[in-house]
Amino acid sequence: MAVLSKYCPEIEITLVDINEQKIKLWNSPNPEDFPVFEEGLSQLILNNRGKNLFFSTEIESTIKNSDMVFISVNTPTKTSGFGAGYASDLKWVEHSARQVANYSQGHTIVVEKSTVPVKTAELIKKILVAEEKIEKNINTKSFSIVSSPEFLAEGTAISDLENPDRVLIGGDDEKALNILGDIYKRWIPENKILFTNLWSSELSKLTANAFLAQRISSINSISALCEKTGAKIFEVANVIGSDRRIGDKFLSPSPGFGGSCFQKDILNLVYLSRFYGLEPVADYWEQVLILNNWQRKRISKIVVEKLFGTVTEKKIAILGFSFKSNTNDTRESSALYIANDLMENGANVFIHDPKVSDFEIENAFRNFKFSKNNLSSWTSCENIIEAINMADAIIILTEWNEYKSIDWEKIAKLMRKPGWVFDTRNIINDLNSIKKNGINFWSLGCGDN
Ligand code: UDX
Repeated sequence: MAVLSKYCPEIEITLVDINEQKIKLWNSPNPEDFPVFEEGLSQLILNNRGKNLFFSTEIESTIKNSDMVFISVNTPTKTSGFGAGYASDLKWVEHSARQVANYSQGHTIVVEKSTVPVKTAELIKKILVAEEKIEKNINTKSFSIVSSPEFLAEGTAISDLENPDRVLIGGDDEKALNILGDIYKRWIPENKILFTNLWSSELSKLTANAFLAQRISSINSISALCEKTGAKIFEVANVIGSDRRIGDKFLSPSPGFGGSCFQKDILNLVYLSRFYGLEPVADYWEQVLILNNWQRKRISKIVVEKLFGTVTEKKIAILGFSFKSNTNDTRESSALYIANDLMENGANVFIHDPKVSDFEIENAFRNFKFSKNNLSSWTSCENIIEAINMADAIIILTEWNEYKSIDWEKIAKLMRKPGWVFDTRNIINDLNSIKKNGINFWSLGCGDN
């Protein structure tokens, strides 16, 4: 919406949320308070807030006055009831659709922006149409439903929105599709705006994320094989990526993909496939997740093995806690899983991340329901030195730029010997300065160096 406000100065955009605290933070004069860190976002908000971009808790009047409503609420994986562990919980989508049904006036275009399971638009439609029927006599309300899933990635959100590979708009009401299409056309070339039916639009989003995640599980599976055989994963990735049919993007091995989307969307796809009796399809996609969890565990096990089979009461520095660089988001971050494994084994984990605050780390652990060994603990560190001082091992889990330029000569001297550095993102080039100081080095897809 911040990007929309930049390109459409005459369109009034109001973001509403039932979470008053969140809205208060978005309205703060200090951009440091904004609940989400994203390169370029603060500036956009500061430029347009109060002009054509507003943040409010006035849900009723905002819906009443709107021609178009984007439903952009969370759709987490259900934790109980039917489909628990797989299906998305659509309670917030339903709640929002009911609010739109109640408060809207005249004709309203409802855009489904949240990533949802296929056929969710039908649920929204039923809620809205029920309201249309009640009101039929006085004929004050009507709705069009459009699906327009978002493809931006965190960390590059603003540039992805300004220069997307495509914008997807699905539905059957041509007029509504064109109204939304015309908004995007202000800054996006027409040939990048794709129109489909509702179900293709919803399924395309799940499929795109499943394919992306599948690539990561594929390269991660090969990283394990490289470590056993002496092949180097970055060489293999480079060779296969130079085939234009494969392409060189999204081939970086990692401690497993994280983030709010990949796991959830694949679980949805698996659930949907099982629901339709397509077991082999469900099993096929589920394997992408099985491999991802296996990769996380595999790394935890390697760390324990290298530290003479035990990490009990040892100090382990974790560099990077967000699920990727340039974001403070920790949802499904592999760092959480690996820190948890190590703590289960009795380690004292010292975490550094340039953007994830103390409070966010605490929150992440609380939501994770981790099972801590009594002897273990975690500490959030202000700087790298605090994290690594007298550490038995350093594990790099997020590819933050500042970890690429660490002065290893200085850092290695501060560690307990014989120490280990585990690079799960392949960002360290300067091996000599680590080794010179008697520190062992292991990297993902290359093993002991
Ligand atoms: C993803 C999709 O990319 C985006 O199109 C969709 O709209 C939302 O989900 P996001 O989760 O924000 O975006 O980040 P992404 O860059 O895709 O990274 C996801 C995870 O995969 C991260 O943990 C990242 O470290 C990991 N990853 C990515 C790899 O392990 N290897 C890679 O080559 C690329």
